[in-house]
Amino acid sequence: MMARQSPTSSVAPTADGMPLLGLGTWENDNPSECANTIKTALEMGYRHIDTAQVYGNEGAVGQGIAAADVPREEMFIATKVWIDKLGYEDVLTSTQRSLEKLGIDTVDLLYVHWPVDTYNPVETFRALHKLVSDGKADRIGISNFEPNQVDTAIEKANVPIFANQIEIHPLLPQQELRDHCSKHDIELVAYSPLARGAVFDVPEITAIANNHDVSEAQIALAWLRQKGITAIPKAVGHDHIHDNWTSLDLELTPAEIEQIDSIERTNRCVDPRFAPW
Ligand SMILES: NC(=O)c1ccc[n+]([C@@H]2O[C@H](COP(=O)([O-])OP(=O)(O)OC[C@H]3O[C@@H](n4cnc5c(N)ncnc54)[C@H](OP(=O)(O)O)[C@@H]3O)[C@@H](O)[C@H]2O)c1
Repeated sequence: MMARQSPTSSVAPTADGMPLLGLGTWENDNPSECANTIKTALEMGYRHIDTAQVYGNEGAVGQGIAAADVPREEMFIATKVWIDKLGYEDVLTSTQRSLEKLGIDTVDLLYVHWPVDTYNPVETFRALHKLVSDGKADRIGISNFEPNQVDTAIEKANVPIFANQIEIHPLLPQQELRDHCSKHDIELVAYSPLARGAVFDVPEITAIANNHDVSEAQIALAWLRQKGITAIPKAVGHDHIHDNWTSLDLELTPAEIEQIDSIERTNRCVDPRFAPW
């Protein structure tokens, strides 16, 4: 069900300067559609855009950034260094290439995409530190880091780790990892916050959505926001982008949050063979 609510909140709340609702772009592969998506979202009020080197769409994202009638300084742009570019020199050169494609001088948040392959905690973070010192990255993030890898990163990085981007949604609440990150003051960014569509088939979520006359997507996004977790749902086209944005107007009751918390079924959507778990 696609609900239309108005008025739409014009500003997303932030977590230490990072907008708590952003736009994901994985598999937004058609360049003109991708650029339009970014422009539409930014002009609707989104300020946080999530891309990655491996998505192959940084150029199209950059076109959308340039086309939007929104000042760059209001935006929060995040990208990720791919697993084969995590050696010292490759981090520097690939990030420079990302900045050029995105058409920006500084990326607001630069993640290590996965702690695998060429990842070397000392060398990778040495390069990331240089990018921060040179003003090319404002903050450093990690993604898909399990608790022991978070600890190693904290130990080896001579730059603060701002966020860990991991899969979180009602079918994968990741409580232990969340507690671990919170203990170290690391923000959480939930990827696949709609479980890549699976939240639409969860009866507990549908029941709450029907009570509020909103979509299941909005329920999943409000559940994350009310826990202080940033969400970056991917959406293409005005209707999905708008539906997700209006989740900012939705307040779940403590009982509803508890009902979602008590769902026991799990579904991990992103599980490549190289995953560290
Ligand atoms: N760090 C990592 O390793 C990692 C891994 C996975 C994802 N991510 C990031 O997280 C972002 C989000 O995750 P995701 O793309 O895996 O999945 P997701 O956001 O959970 O789900 C995206 C799917 O939901 C649909 N959708 C979005 N809003 C909707 C709505 N309101 N109503 C109905 N359907 C809706 C989209 O359709 P349409 O596209 O047709 O709108 C798309 O099929 C990615 O795009 C990427 O930026 C990062």
